[in-house]
Amino acid sequence: MCGIVGFTGNREAQGIVLDCLKRLEYRGYDSSGIAIVSKGSLKVRKSLGEISVLESHLESMPGNTGIAHTRWATHGKPTTENAHPFLDCKEEYALVHNGILTNYMELKEQLIKKGHKFTSETDSEVLVHLIEDSDAPDLKSKVLSVLKKAEGSYAVAVVQKGLDEIVAARNESPLVIGVGHDENFIASDTTALLKYTNEVVPLMDKEAVRITPGSIEVFDLNGKPVQRAPAKVSWTLEDAERSGYPHFMLKEIYEQPRAIHESLLGRLDGQEDDSIFQEQITSIKILGCGTSYHAGLVGKYIIEELSRIPTTTQISSEYRYSPVTESKPLVVCITQSGETADTLAAAREARKRGCKTIAITNVLGSAITREADHVIYTRAGPEIGVAATKTFVTQLIALYLLGLRLGAIKNTLSSDRRRAIISDMRALPRIVQSVLNEASAIEGYAKKYKCAHSMFFIGRHLNYPTSLEGALKTKEISYIHGEGYPAGELKHGPLALLSKDTPVIAICAADHTYEKMLGNVREVTARDSPVLAIGTEGNQDLSKYAEDVFLVPKIDPLFSPVPIIVALQLFAYYLAIERGCPIDKPRNIAKTVTVE
Ligand code: AGP
Repeated sequence: MCGIVGFTGNREAQGIVLDCLKRLEYRGYDSSGIAIVSKGSLKVRKSLGEISVLESHLESMPGNTGIAHTRWATHGKPTTENAHPFLDCKEEYALVHNGILTNYMELKEQLIKKGHKFTSETDSEVLVHLIEDSDAPDLKSKVLSVLKKAEGSYAVAVVQKGLDEIVAARNESPLVIGVGHDENFIASDTTALLKYTNEVVPLMDKEAVRITPGSIEVFDLNGKPVQRAPAKVSWTLEDAERSGYPHFMLKEIYEQPRAIHESLLGRLDGQEDDSIFQEQITSIKILGCGTSYHAGLVGKYIIEELSRIPTTTQISSEYRYSPVTESKPLVVCITQSGETADTLAAAREARKRGCKTIAITNVLGSAITREADHVIYTRAGPEIGVAATKTFVTQLIALYLLGLRLGAIKNTLSSDRRRAIISDMRALPRIVQSVLNEASAIEGYAKKYKCAHSMFFIGRHLNYPTSLEGALKTKEISYIHGEGYPAGELKHGPLALLSKDTPVIAICAADHTYEKMLGNVREVTARDSPVLAIGTEGNQDLSKYAEDVFLVPKIDPLFSPVPIIVALQLFAYYLAIERGCPIDKPRNIAKTVTVE
């Protein structure tokens, strides 16, 4: 995954594109580059490392049109040569690309035979040489002719020497157009543009756009004009900035009470459109990757509890290759970004199999919203930190809401139970805030356990997936190996790994599994592993079993994953702080994975 931006207007482009680019750094940060067009010239500068390194090397580059790129290597190592933008042989065009071209080797060989000289190992560079090679009359037609030859995914932007315009296109990689006054933008993500505009035009797959300071023309790959009105996003610049927090991850953890509140607004009064549920729903399949998959695993318990509809959860990339069965479940695709390639492919596969699909996503107009029959937005606001936090919690909220609606349709909830559930959901922001108020206690446990090489996270029932998510957060942010496990399974193998050097984080929610969890804690302490038990207020007896105890406020066990995961997010965050890890940009991973 990489980030691209472009600007054309009456102001100097250099500062604006770099400013926007920095907001995309979460998408990739191994090298970056910029191209600026001014009358009669086209300058490109690139550098290895983060955008600040590029910036520190840059001279002033006058010009009103520019494109820039921050890279996350897929083809070719992170080097200055492999950084974007790429120039053609005559240095007439500069191009940035996010995605993967599957037929680039074949195209490259043809271009080399024609005498083109390549300077990088990337797939992207072929596009700029193809543009140079095209005999179409103008930049727009050249780009369109080239994209007809390109196979694979792309968000691409091109500028030409001396021209104040940008031609851009997308296929399976995100790209939005930002609408300004006498200036226009393109970017991989709306958050990059919020300082300058909140009016955006989403670009769809296999569409292109030509922007000048005063115009935006969207068209399909045959050059046929497409009419699309701009939409206003409600996110503000403050939403997309750190607001005094040392890291986006911490800011986003602390935004959870508000995110939950907003995700519930107007959705508890039973006025939602139920047209998607007209057909008989006999089963549900939830699909997602990473954290979104974990939300889906919790979702299985929620939906079965509230509506009694049999539900399974599957990893998106596994679903695609599973056999087609007779049944046509309602398919729920969870993806915070709405751009994860595996989940998009799974959604397409589900439709091919004749299933109705619902998308749960955080990003307005993202690719998944065009693949699904119905969309539920999570309203978490922009999430910049690579580790998903508030989007996970709001995905759970969306699943509780879905469970409630299905429960109403299936008539599985008494009015008292429904009222109690709604009242518990309304209490969630306050409950999460109470956990956040105790962050210093969690910080203390992180200091104690910071030297561990490996940890187990155990739980039962709907807190088994919570344990998986706690382990994932710990792995990706603190680089400590964390393994989530169903507590009942420890004795079937993993106990062999336990010792005094292997802390175990035991989720002991006050539900029907509590006594069994105490048994598991005993099993673990007998192997000398230190235990941090996460329990519920009222279960003070936990301290008799576990060395360390953190209690979250009392709530119906159905909602226990919400406060518990907030505690585990803080634990992972403070472990990472103690170990000096780059929290918002962990090594080797990217926020949105647009390759399969
Ligand atoms: C978790 O912290 C990661 N960011 C990752 O597992 C993520 O949840 C996964 O890549 C899926 O992303 P999506 O929700 O945007 O589809």
